[in-house]
Amino acid sequence: MTQSFKAVAVSSVEEYLRALQESGLDGLPEAVALPRVAFAAPQAVAIPLDGAVAGEAHHDHKHESLEKIRKSLGDCQRCKLSKGRQNLVFGAGNPQARLVFVGEGPGADEDRQGEPFVGEAGQVLNRIITAMGLKREEVYICNVVKCRPPGNRDPEADEIAACTPFLLRQLQSIHPEAIVALGRFAAQTLLGTKEPISRLRGKFHDYHGVPVMPTYHPSYLLRNRADSGPFWEVWEDMTQILRFLKLPVPEKTRKK
Ligand code: URA
Repeated sequence: MTQSFKAVAVSSVEEYLRALQESGLDGLPEAVALPRVAFAAPQAVAIPLDGAVAGEAHHDHKHESLEKIRKSLGDCQRCKLSKGRQNLVFGAGNPQARLVFVGEGPGADEDRQGEPFVGEAGQVLNRIITAMGLKREEVYICNVVKCRPPGNRDPEADEIAACTPFLLRQLQSIHPEAIVALGRFAAQTLLGTKEPISRLRGKFHDYHGVPVMPTYHPSYLLRNRADSGPFWEVWEDMTQILRFLKLPVPEKTRKK
């Protein structure tokens, strides 16, 4: 681990422990679920999202609520992104979703409205969700960081370290069966890798014991709308998700 990766890991663990404390936990159980922070090797200990409680039925578990996590974020000033935001974008959708979509960070529209994926990229994501035979309210949508990076730049290491403990807590609370990582940044951050998205997509990976399917970001589809290739690759990725969730796969025919 290089020095800066180590610094990110240490501050992320510190933030996670602070968050546990804020949520009322004053001691660590032996089998504590420490976060697998950004840049950790993907093969490192897989921690099930239901923490130390094995064999629980889906959602038959006791985890802190999303409201409680939102409350503990408060008027978050944990990183410099807070300075430029209009709204913190926590996440939206079903708190018991079987499927969670994780993007990179809010853009201008999301910052204005306080909701993820409501701009142009959001319209594309909505179309993907509808094509899957699902409704936006059935899934949960959030981002790696909750405040808009200036000029839509990639979030920086300290920002990721401050924010990802809350993402982990949200995912622990929702306890989804699968996660879709939208785009290079979300996929690389969740999986702790620098592999290009073209190599990550199309295969399931692991995030704390939850299968993650990386796919192209909706903005990438928008930028390449003249080429239907990436769209069909995303569709292939979504059909894998649907099969994994044992949901019907709507038929789509590619025009020659
Ligand atoms: N792009 C993202 O990654 N997230 C959003 O919420 C909107 C656009």
